Amino acid sequence: MAKAKPAQQSSFGKWPIIGAVLIALYALCSFLDSNVHKFYAMTPEALNNAVQTSLSASRAAGQDKNATYVVDTLLSNLVKTYPELDLQTDFRNPREWVFNNAGGAMGSMYIIHASITEYLIIFGSAVGTEGHTGRHTADDYFHILTGQQRCYAAGDLAPLIYNPGDVNLMPRGVVRQYWMDGETWALEYAAGWIPPMLPFGLADMLSSTLDYISFYHTCRITAREMVKNLLRGKI
Ligand SMILES: *[C@@H]1O[C@H](CO)[C@@H](O)[C@H](O)[C@H]1NC(C)=O
Repeated sequence: MAKAKPAQQSSFGKWPIIGAVLIALYALCSFLDSNVHKFYAMTPEALNNAVQTSLSASRAAGQDKNATYVVDTLLSNLVKTYPELDLQTDFRNPREWVFNNAGGAMGSMYIIHASITEYLIIFGSAVGTEGHTGRHTADDYFHILTGQQRCYAAGDLAPLIYNPGDVNLMPRGVVRQYWMDGETWALEYAAGWIPPMLPFGLADMLSSTLDYISFYHTCRITAREMVKNLLRGKI
């Protein structure tokens, strides 16, 4: 009986430590979360500027319905805006494109930049799509380059409509149903915690399409860019 007591005491004794660790973790996460914006290298204003400049130039050349032309012009403007970021620009290389299935919608994407707190991609579909936006841990700025996107929140009976040059801002935590017309391409900028968004972006590939090749390439390109940026000191 005298021997049973210390064992009981020590198993009770670890709860304060677990509690302290959880509180410390919570404090660390809250601290990081309230400072997440300090890790951002891009701003929505500068990105929007690059988009508007590229759309005007494409329009002037009579090429604003030509997504290849618009994306090409946009990528050179983005490199001029952020020369220090080592953005990816070889969008004509099919190995750099992947299909993405998420929330029942399907599109393809090209990663321009991916780090722990930001990503910048070209996302869209040549044939159109529709689905759930996902509920994310980042603010999402969806700049329409060509085509049209519509979306609405539960409770709205009419959609919001976004045309080329418009930005659909989806703040963190907001959720909608969205639709994109055929040949809709957009510059999508997400700022916040990117790793928690990845399961939504990957789950359909594991549970629905079973497209492990696309899964592999998505992980390959995302990891390559995240590691490259971490090594350059970009969180
Ligand atoms: C679209 O733009 C690309 C890139 O500049 C060009 O090679 C292609 O010929 C254009 N397509 C049309 C139909 O003008």
